[in-house]
Amino acid sequence: MGFLQDVAGPLLEGFSTLGLASQIGVATAAFVVVAVVLNVLKQVLFKSPNEPPMVFHWFPIIGSTITYGMDPPKFFHENRKKHGDCFTFILLGKKTTVYVGPEGNNFILNGKIRDVNAEEIYTVLTTPVFGKDVVYDCPNAKLMEQKKFMKIALTTEAFRSYVPIISDEVTSYLKRTPDFKGQSGVVNICPKMAQITIFTASHALQGKEIRDQFDEKLADLYHDLDMGFSPINFMLHWAPLPWNNRRDHAQRTVAKIYMDTMKRRRARGDDGQKDMMQHLMNSTYKNGTKVPDHEIAHMMIALLMAGQHSSSSTSSWIMCRLASRPDVMEALYQEQIDNLGKDLPPLKYEDLAKLPLNQAIVKETLRLHAPIHSIMRAVKSPMPVPGTKYVIPTDHVLLAAPGVSATDSQYFPEPDKWEPARWQKDHPLAPSMVRNEDEINEEEEEKIDYGYGLVSKGSASPYLPFGAGRHRCIGEHFANVQLQTITAEIVRAFKFRNVDGSDKVIGTDYASLFSRPLEPANIYWERRN
Ligand code: HEM
Ligand SMILES: *[C@@H]1O[C@H](CO)[C@@H](O)[C@H](O)[C@H]1NC(C)=O
Ligand SMILES: *[C@@H]1O[C@H](CO)[C@@H](O)[C@H](O)[C@H]1NC(C)=O
Repeated sequence: MGFLQDVAGPLLEGFSTLGLASQIGVATAAFVVVAVVLNVLKQVLFKSPNEPPMVFHWFPIIGSTITYGMDPPKFFHENRKKHGDCFTFILLGKKTTVYVGPEGNNFILNGKIRDVNAEEIYTVLTTPVFGKDVVYDCPNAKLMEQKKFMKIALTTEAFRSYVPIISDEVTSYLKRTPDFKGQSGVVNICPKMAQITIFTASHALQGKEIRDQFDEKLADLYHDLDMGFSPINFMLHWAPLPWNNRRDHAQRTVAKIYMDTMKRRRARGDDGQKDMMQHLMNSTYKNGTKVPDHEIAHMMIALLMAGQHSSSSTSSWIMCRLASRPDVMEALYQEQIDNLGKDLPPLKYEDLAKLPLNQAIVKETLRLHAPIHSIMRAVKSPMPVPGTKYVIPTDHVLLAAPGVSATDSQYFPEPDKWEPARWQKDHPLAPSMVRNEDEINEEEEEKIDYGYGLVSKGSASPYLPFGAGRHRCIGEHFANVQLQTITAEIVRAFKFRNVDGSDKVIGTDYASLFSRPLEPANIYWERRN
């Protein structure tokens, strides 16, 4: 007691001599110190034996938000080394439980509908961008029906028509873009691939009438919609900030463009078309209700947004990787000459299957650069983790990161090496425990239908760039067709290398929801003759 008085007395005396501003400053500092001390004591003294280990952090609420946000894969790998496959960290005040590895992927992505929920997490970002009554602004059963409608338009028959459309968009883009004038040059590849992606995706999926509007007003409107996906909007989605106002205006304007297009089509009696919009216009929910126009419009926005970020990031990474490995780019060119003919005839859908290395480029790039690094679910009932004493409580959020197992040496020898050839049979770096989709025997592989077609029942795979379970991607085949066609066309037109001729690779930008190369991602290009 005497000691406390000895110390506190002079301290309080000193405090009272300070000005008001300084007093507030000192009081705030004292408050922070106390909060930090309490937070640390809580972590050290009150470890719950039934909860996964907590990643140590100094500050409450902020927790590990910053270390996670700067480099999520690094954060996952480091903490996995310390804590094992299942651990919890604080993300913006929320207890977030990461469960990596094939078992973790399965636990989260194949979670039962009564246990895990996606829409609760995503709706604040997606609903203002897509619009009401679709995707995460409706019950899961309705989303399953909507995914079925969207998937019907993505058939082999449709893909056959998409390949020439995509090829033409790429070649005409390369001809008209000033950055590709002349015999050689240096270009920041990311904005170029973003444009190629939007032109090819909108033309193939949304039809020529929508594609043509992307040369003018639609491109800006989609850019405004995009701003709604800034991570900051997890907290500020509701705020009347300039970028949110632009987002809302763009959502209304784009939805109206789609709805007017539908009206015109109906007035013309124009239902012979086989594109996405027409398929959705023909669709009926199980209860007999036709899909309303505003829902079709909002699904069209959702489709383009879902595809744009992931495909544009992936195609940028493909080009960066090719620039760091000119030998692979040459092998790709040679593959086309050998398998399609010296004269390189116009690409057809069937040609893509004749180009295994070209296919492997996409697979290997998604292994190292999956654009969606974190998949989140709200926990709806306490979830016991099989084989452990952990039970994940309902105030936690679950986070799956399939990218962690995709870069684990247990499954992929020399995991950090980008080596497309590893996906070919008997390669020394061939993955273990990853089954090739073409090799999966339909009878042996158990399948399940959540309402939008058959998908693999088990998802305990180390390689899941398109997710798994009821929220699995329906755009996988479209993305493959799009990315393989773009790659094949670029390989026909150019030789790439790094500006300094080295084999180094650019770093990753994690500042938005979808990871992508840090800009400027400069590439030296040279036209083939
Ligand atoms: C390289 C390209 C792509 C990648 C890596 C990718 C990845 C993913 C992943 C990981 C999910 C699961 C998300 C979750 O579980 O929360 C997903 C869902 C989805 N993706 Fe993709 N995607 C790609 C392209 C596309 C394209 C081109 C489309 C549209 C044509 C699309 C439409 C969708 C849709 C509708 C869902 C369902 C969301 C849900 O059910 O909750 N994706 N995608
Ligand atoms: C039919 O089902 C759809 C999709 O779940 C729903 O939006 C709609 O309100 C339902 N209509 C009726 C009349 O129940
Ligand atoms: C939509 O339905 C109409 C009339 O039933 C049919 O002629 C047309 O081919 C269908 N379109 C699509 C894309 O299925």
